[in-house]
Amino acid sequence: MPELLDLHPAPADVRRLVIEGLSRNPKQLPAWFLYDAEGSRLFDLICQQPEYSLTATETALLEAQAPAIAAALGPGTLLEFGAGSARKVSPLLEAIEAAGRPPAYVALDISAAHLQQACGRLQRRHPAASIAGICCDYSQLQALPEHPLLSGSAHLGFFPGSSLGNFEPQAARELLRQFRRLLGPGGTLLIGIDQPKPVARLEAAYNDAAGVSAAFALNLLARLNRELAGDFDPAAFRYRARWMPQASHIEMALVSERAQTMQAAGRRWSFQAGEPLITETSAKYDPEAFLALAAAAGWRGAQRWSDPAGDLSLHLLVQADSEH
Ligand code: AVI
Repeated sequence: MPELLDLHPAPADVRRLVIEGLSRNPKQLPAWFLYDAEGSRLFDLICQQPEYSLTATETALLEAQAPAIAAALGPGTLLEFGAGSARKVSPLLEAIEAAGRPPAYVALDISAAHLQQACGRLQRRHPAASIAGICCDYSQLQALPEHPLLSGSAHLGFFPGSSLGNFEPQAARELLRQFRRLLGPGGTLLIGIDQPKPVARLEAAYNDAAGVSAAFALNLLARLNRELAGDFDPAAFRYRARWMPQASHIEMALVSERAQTMQAAGRRWSFQAGEPLITETSAKYDPEAFLALAAAAGWRGAQRWSDPAGDLSLHLLVQADSEH
């Protein structure tokens, strides 16, 4: 069974972040709070909804291009940020092995139970690979823990799924800088970025007909109730996903159906009728806009692979001041 290192934020930090988020105007919680065990399960289900094509498109692209990507990546430990079920890395591990290199992989994710299952499943599928998991909020990770798989100085970052879009632009830039520090001088980053599309298609992707996206957002209230002694009534909120053209992002929110006051984290929280609690935003970048953001964080685009319809791109980034 792969080793699991636990760097999950302490309950006091979680409480502080929730108080901060509910004190904001508009109210907004950190997106990673969506991913408890049930949230991670629901997110996997979202990835299977026909409206949410991002996962299937990116997986097909990785499968088609894995040998070229593995060759471009070169040697090193592959570090996946926000690995979730770690279903996308298999084609890369296979291609690395086929190229005669022993694959080494470290998965980072906030949901411990999900991470353990994912690493176990991956190890059974790739017995020759060296695998470990780190349970953490990767966006707050200041340094990698001591571990034999992390002893080299330059690592290969893997950040698929367009998860960068869940960070506001300034936080996204800071995260890309943070990845540079974690991956070390000469480290590279393979990152999947979803691109803008017709509004109806985007809004449907984040509000699927089966109601899984809505259940995913509403699960946040169940988590507040369970972990922070909350008394939120999920029936008093309606899920909404809408495209915000100025910000080039989808905003996902739970909208209060009426004026109401609830408790959580030892405080009282008032909502007006129609007031949103933003659960997440998901920005879409065209390749040029993304590369400008990456450049501001010290990365340079070395290669790019796109699906035939041009829905998303996998960018291979190298550090601008340590060219290969
Ligand atoms: C994880 N992340 C990239 C997803 C997205 O597309 O922004 C999260 C998500 N939330 C609802 N649907 C998908």
